Amino acid sequence: MAEKFSIGLLSSGGDAPGMNAAIRAVVRTALTNNMEVIGVQHGYEGLVNGEFRPMGARDVGGILQRGGTVLLTSRSKRFMEPAGQRDAIRKMNEAGMDALIVIGGEGSMNGAYALSKQGVKVIGIPGSIDNDIWGTNIAIGTDTAMNTIMEAVDKLRDTASSHQRAFLVETMGRHSGYLAVMAGIVCGAEMVLIPEVPTTAEEVVAAVEDAYKRGKTHAIIINAEGSALRTTDIAAKIDEMDVGFKTRMTILGHIQRGGSPTAYDRLLASRMGVKAVEALVEGKHGVMTGLKGKGVDFIPLADVVSNKRKVNMEYYHMAKVLAR
Ligand code: F6P
Repeated sequence: MAEKFSIGLLSSGGDAPGMNAAIRAVVRTALTNNMEVIGVQHGYEGLVNGEFRPMGARDVGGILQRGGTVLLTSRSKRFMEPAGQRDAIRKMNEAGMDALIVIGGEGSMNGAYALSKQGVKVIGIPGSIDNDIWGTNIAIGTDTAMNTIMEAVDKLRDTASSHQRAFLVETMGRHSGYLAVMAGIVCGAEMVLIPEVPTTAEEVVAAVEDAYKRGKTHAIIINAEGSALRTTDIAAKIDEMDVGFKTRMTILGHIQRGGSPTAYDRLLASRMGVKAVEALVEGKHGVMTGLKGKGVDFIPLADVVSNKRKVNMEYYHMAKVLAR
């Protein structure tokens, strides 16, 4: 009897809410198609080390609503080197893996492409709160993170307006202003600072002073982690210039990465998990699942890694207009 087609499954890089829903979908779709799944713990690091465990339908029970990733994750330096990739392929072969599904962000898709170029059948599933992966409208986890930010800023606004304060709120996004721009719109921020648009502290001070003069009861400034300005420095500058509002600041940090995935993220993750296995059933590989319009499509990993996703400047300008 022929051996079952065996799929390795890992999550890598920063965890994102909804990764568990994708894991569940991959395992159950694979089993339905008479394939087996080997879970790889700790991302690519675990692939290099051979940290494998078989995954059955019951192993993914009760995880749909949980944040984080039950497969655990890491940012593996060893896997970035050719020797690490060689060892990973060797471990895959020893375990009889026929293919690999990788759930992760931009760096993880680079790793997936590196394996794919060496003959491994790989499918990527985009998962990152930063939404900085080219080829998909939105990645798994971004919606949940947006909702976490929105909830936090709504609370901060209550206290900000009660005290007539300017609040600096730092969102995640090392290289991408996506979360900050979208937060600017959905939270009604006075100003958004992102890596893609260099802004000076003087410009921020002027905007906050202007908001005060226009009779605003508070000012919310969203600063993306990767912008040119440090949140502490902006707050100090506004206080120093005495513009009307006193400042307080909140760095949201890893709160944005945790929590139960929203309905949107659970659905997206489930759809992408199913599609990833379907790709293998159809003999496709070297692709990432990507949301295009209303459907989930297959995008070549070569295109994913050779393009940079840019912040949509229309949204940046919209945030500005709506801050009047
Ligand atoms: O890529 C996701 C992300 O949360 C970024 O927004 C952030 O800069 C980074 O990960 C933080 O990484 P770590 O959890 O390794 O500190």
